[in-house]
Amino acid sequence: MAISNRLKTIAELVTPGYRAADIGTDHGYVPIYLLRNGISSYVIAADLSPGSLEKAREHAARAGFLFEPETGSSEKLQKNGIECRLSDGLAEIHPGEVDAIILSGMGGILMDRILRAGMEVVQTAKELIVSPHRDVELLRAFADEYGYEIAQDLELTDKKKRYHILKIRIR
Ligand SMILES: C[S@@+](CC[C@H](N)C(=O)[O-])C[C@H]1O[C@@H](n2cnc3c(N)ncnc32)[C@H](O)[C@@H]1O
Repeated sequence: MAISNRLKTIAELVTPGYRAADIGTDHGYVPIYLLRNGISSYVIAADLSPGSLEKAREHAARAGFLFEPETGSSEKLQKNGIECRLSDGLAEIHPGEVDAIILSGMGGILMDRILRAGMEVVQTAKELIVSPHRDVELLRAFADEYGYEIAQDLELTDKKKRYHILKIRIR
């Protein structure tokens, strides 16, 4: 798996040691990069599409990082690896479960909607890494409205396309 420069840059903005959720993970490349490089020990790979999630599950298993909690297992169980979860935005992420929330490869309107619908989860996280393919100003306005600092504001070109990546500090 050769990760793109865009996805590598996104993954490397996650603070080492933080548990992360990659919302709209699709192929699961960002969670695998986080585990493989020792940045995170636990990542939730979430997607709305069962087909995408299956792809992420296969890739995570092949990389040796798939984590499948047993049903009925304690919430307090030490979690390690990549847990694949079917989720519309942050709907299936529990408050306090992750420190970093990653959203990339969707439009800014959808990202803004996902964040606002999941504010209970956002407020218990420590950082957001967002890379919308359009309408980045909506995410800047979101950060401003909630008084969150934009800690990093990057622009990069990957395969001749221009991308914005923001790291927003929650607390
Ligand atoms: C273009 S892919 C981006 C994949 C990867 N994040 C990247 O940046 O390369 C968009 C993914 O977002 C997922 N998606 C769209 N709406 C979503 C939602 N409301 N909640 C979770 N995932 C969603 C799609 O199923 C798809 O897998």
